[in-house]
Amino acid sequence: MAKLAIIGGTGLTSLMGLEITNREVMHTPYGEPSGPLVHGRFSGTEVVFLPRHGSGHTIPPHKVNYRANLWALSKAGADKVIAVNAVGGVRADMLPGRLVFPNQIIDYTWNRVNTYFEEGLSHVTHVDFTHPYCEDLRQMLIRGAREAGIDAVDEGTYGATQGPRLETIAEINRMERDGCHLVGMTGMPEAALARELDLCYVCCAVVSNMAAGRGPGEITMEEIEQNLISGMNNVKTLLEYVLPALRG
Ligand code: HPA
Repeated sequence: MAKLAIIGGTGLTSLMGLEITNREVMHTPYGEPSGPLVHGRFSGTEVVFLPRHGSGHTIPPHKVNYRANLWALSKAGADKVIAVNAVGGVRADMLPGRLVFPNQIIDYTWNRVNTYFEEGLSHVTHVDFTHPYCEDLRQMLIRGAREAGIDAVDEGTYGATQGPRLETIAEINRMERDGCHLVGMTGMPEAALARELDLCYVCCAVVSNMAAGRGPGEITMEEIEQNLISGMNNVKTLLEYVLPALRG
């Protein structure tokens, strides 16, 4: 049966409220995923959970094996993915603690393996990525957040940076001129790989800080961690609200 996958980001290495049934170690043609897949039920709905940075939060954004993660989730029967990503707010309304459901992406990452279509091809393949996220699932999250009274922004352009360092003010200024509203390090190539596997993939971004030069001072890990606590509580509430409607 088709399942929902949840990919946890910084601040979501375990999913509180998940009744775990089993952990599955998967090996893929692309190497090892970030850890065992965690199968269980959340809000009565069957889900498979994978923390992107590993269960001990040890894998930095540029070292995540995005191909192995999505391949493993797909092989485990997932056809929908809710990806949770910590982000910095570029536009003034992207305030810490808020959830954002972006509808567009600009990719600034480099040197990451970003496709399944590179070896042994019978023909060159280009997937459509006009609308990078699955609109049906995105609308479900937007409706769910609205009905649950969660502070959320319905759209935005996610600028994906290489990391692991945070950006300079000039880089954020340039990203804003480009049209980015939020900045994170894990949105790509994950979204594009999900499209290549034909997964219905959506991003639930959690603002952990104002981006460089958009807040009063320098960005600290304490600030990020503190804001993620309230943001992740909102994610959990949202999932409790939305998942029953996704029961297969
Ligand atoms: N920049 C990039 N990635 C991030 C940020 C940021 O300010 N905050 C959380 N992830």
